[in-house]
Amino acid sequence: MSSTVSLNKLLDELSLIEKDAEKDIQEALNQELLEQLRISFLGKKGRLSAVLGLMGKISDQERPVIGQKANSLKHYLLDLISKRQEILKKQALNQLLDRETIDVTAPAIGIPQGHRHPLITTTEKIIDLFTGLGYKVVEGPEVENDFYNFEALNIPENHPARDMQDTFYLEDNLLLRTHTSPVQIRFLENNPPPVRIISPGRVYRRDAVDATHSPVFHQIEVLAIDEGLDFSHLRGTVMAFLQAFFGDLPVRFRASYFPFTEPSAEVDVKWQGKWLEVMGCGMVDPAVLEGMGIDSDRCTGFAAGLGVERFCMVRHEIDDIRRLFTSDLRFLEQF
Ligand code: DAH
Repeated sequence: MSSTVSLNKLLDELSLIEKDAEKDIQEALNQELLEQLRISFLGKKGRLSAVLGLMGKISDQERPVIGQKANSLKHYLLDLISKRQEILKKQALNQLLDRETIDVTAPAIGIPQGHRHPLITTTEKIIDLFTGLGYKVVEGPEVENDFYNFEALNIPENHPARDMQDTFYLEDNLLLRTHTSPVQIRFLENNPPPVRIISPGRVYRRDAVDATHSPVFHQIEVLAIDEGLDFSHLRGTVMAFLQAFFGDLPVRFRASYFPFTEPSAEVDVKWQGKWLEVMGCGMVDPAVLEGMGIDSDRCTGFAAGLGVERFCMVRHEIDDIRRLFTSDLRFLEQF
């Protein structure tokens, strides 16, 4: 290195550094660029260090002048850098906030929400009312055999009552149950009286589809067996239940016939000016009890089979049973 480094030259270089740095720092667009500037001006191999490296080439008197200048320049630039840093930080934060701003006035994006089918909610309501009376819910299979669906219910082969329930037959003496009554038998097989159960479920019949018929529908079976039960208990239970379900709709009991009950009745409610049958019921036929090994002199019982679709249609004023099975959202969304 030449020994002719002059004080002025170093002073010029310092002011040049100052000018360049001021401009560059002011224009730095982000924190990484700012850090690069710091290194290039103030780092070990930076421009300020280069000036300090020449200090040995100037006189002892001049050295402090450069030392002080360089030192204050260094502090000045550090200060500029940290101020610029603050500004960049704020800018970055504001950009982030802008990006993440939530427009509370924007219209909501609805998330479509499913809900339970009206047949399910109707079933649940009926279950609720009966469990409130002390009944227990049990279930049985939809694929049954002749014994449970007919035989044990006092419907022997060739009995005309079989015609009332046009049956879907499967292989191996199996069939799709035509009613929930077989659950009575399945339960009594394993549970001695006293019995108070209800059994909801799907049943199947070879019915042509129309506004009031569907080959698949739902029933709820009711069975109570105990000492001393008579028709007044049946009637009282049915009336209490119907009142709780429908409120004050007119109700009538009509004498009827079922092979597994004696006497038997059908129950109608008056709806839209017409009597509508909603259930069959009766005192359990002693033959059924005896078949299950129950002493029919000691124990009596009553039973009922409710058509869930009917309850649902009256409750929601639905005029056509097919609406309950076609999964049309425009219909289902109303419930
Ligand atoms: N199982 C009958 C049917 O599906 C309905 C029924 C009538 C059930 C009288 C009963 C009853 O438990 O006692 O047509």
